[in-house]
Amino acid sequence: MAQAKKKTAAQEKPKAQAKEAKVKEAPPKEEKPKKKILLVASEALPFVKTGGLADVAAALPKALNADGYDCRVVMPLYYDIPDDFKHTMRCLGNVYVPLAWRNQYCGVFTQTYEGITYYFLDNEYYFKRRGLYGHYDDGERFAFFSKAVLESMSVTGFYPDIIHANDWHTALVPVYLDVFYRGIPQLNGVKTIFTIHNIQFQGQYGDSIISDVLGIPADRASLVMYKGCANFMKGAIECSNIVTTVSPTYAGEILDPYYGYEMEDILRQRSYKLRGIVNGIDTVKNDPAADKALFVNYDLANFGKKVENKLALQRMLGLPENKDAAMIGMVGRLTEQKGLDLVAAVLENIMQLPVQLVILGQGDWRYEETFKRAQNDHTAKLRCVLGFSADLASKIYGGSDMFLMPSKFEPCGLSQLIAMRYGSVPIVRETGGLKDTVHPYNHDTGEGNGLTFYSYNAYDMLDAVQRAVGLYRDFKGDWAKVVANGMSGDYSWAATAKKYEEIYETV
Ligand code: GLC
Repeated sequence: MAQAKKKTAAQEKPKAQAKEAKVKEAPPKEEKPKKKILLVASEALPFVKTGGLADVAAALPKALNADGYDCRVVMPLYYDIPDDFKHTMRCLGNVYVPLAWRNQYCGVFTQTYEGITYYFLDNEYYFKRRGLYGHYDDGERFAFFSKAVLESMSVTGFYPDIIHANDWHTALVPVYLDVFYRGIPQLNGVKTIFTIHNIQFQGQYGDSIISDVLGIPADRASLVMYKGCANFMKGAIECSNIVTTVSPTYAGEILDPYYGYEMEDILRQRSYKLRGIVNGIDTVKNDPAADKALFVNYDLANFGKKVENKLALQRMLGLPENKDAAMIGMVGRLTEQKGLDLVAAVLENIMQLPVQLVILGQGDWRYEETFKRAQNDHTAKLRCVLGFSADLASKIYGGSDMFLMPSKFEPCGLSQLIAMRYGSVPIVRETGGLKDTVHPYNHDTGEGNGLTFYSYNAYDMLDAVQRAVGLYRDFKGDWAKVVANGMSGDYSWAATAKKYEEIYETV
């Protein structure tokens, strides 16, 4: 009896504990204040985009805010932002921005899009032009923008805990903060992160820009001086608490002269603050089961429907309708970075294979010209569409069987991730983010989600394409496995955002 009683007491105790634990689990009334992050970027979707930076600037804030942060985005109010967006912006006020001997007007606008607060900084002299970059005074335009980011806080009232700047256009933000703004109480303790998406563009100018345009006093000029020039990105590497780039492999590669574009020396000196975090993609927008741009939606369970997209794309582009031709897709900027020299060098060999090649992009004249001309010689096998269309890009991801990305360097790359999600098997060079996200298929273990090659050599790339075409012929065996491995991978921002959060919390 006594034993039974004891037992009952013992049984009750855990219940009581569970109750207590439940009470403890409930969110405390005084929640920890959300960390405030200001993401500074020169482009962000859906407003303007020239490259992957715009995708990151849209997706990272969303993922951070889902985790309880208050991340907002600030960017220039470009002429190229569609009117629909401009008409719905709200003006918060204006401020004057001192830039050496200048004093420039800056209007501050805001808009909320998909739950994210965006700030737009307006100055028509600098930003009422077609095209985001490539103007004679880009150095002055982005120096203005970077300083205006700090000045505009008095209008927005948003004083962040962390400023996260991206690429050379915003590299002067941490520099200006250190040189001019640390005396402001709200900015005294702000930490700074700088992310390198592309090291090829650094914001390099003659050193006279430092006093005449940037307005940085002589005794602080060394912050932005590098190898005899003014260099915006070097300033950010000096002044930021943490420097990140968009994949672990690329973070290692840029310490090497082949990839470092002369930045390797300063990066080696500051390597203690360098980290690599691989990007994610927006898995809601990039979903073959829901993407409205596709002719037919599909997922892994209905993979058989994908071929309908290939046939419809062939019809649309005037290519012979042939479900057995392996369709190779390429989507992206037609620049040296993307390894187009390799494709051009062995294009005739590729055209001998049972394939169709569809290229969408724009960029350097020499590549546009090469592929346009080659299209005339291979009307039944090659299509090159110059320009950019998100709709056609989706149709290519959906219609192609494989996706070629032989980049010379690739900080992260987003296209290979989208391709995998759409069941288009990536063929990539083992560099940067491509190496971190695409793993060569292994026939023995059935593991791997793509095909890879190592050297920047056209025949090595051709070999990888040939291997892909060989695998494709075994449609139900190896091919089905490599496709499934790619389609079932997790490329979402959730995991990636956690890594940034770790930095925000510990910086
Ligand atoms: C740049 C890089 C690309 C990266 C993107 C976003 O466009 O070239 O590799 O994915 O930035 O970080």
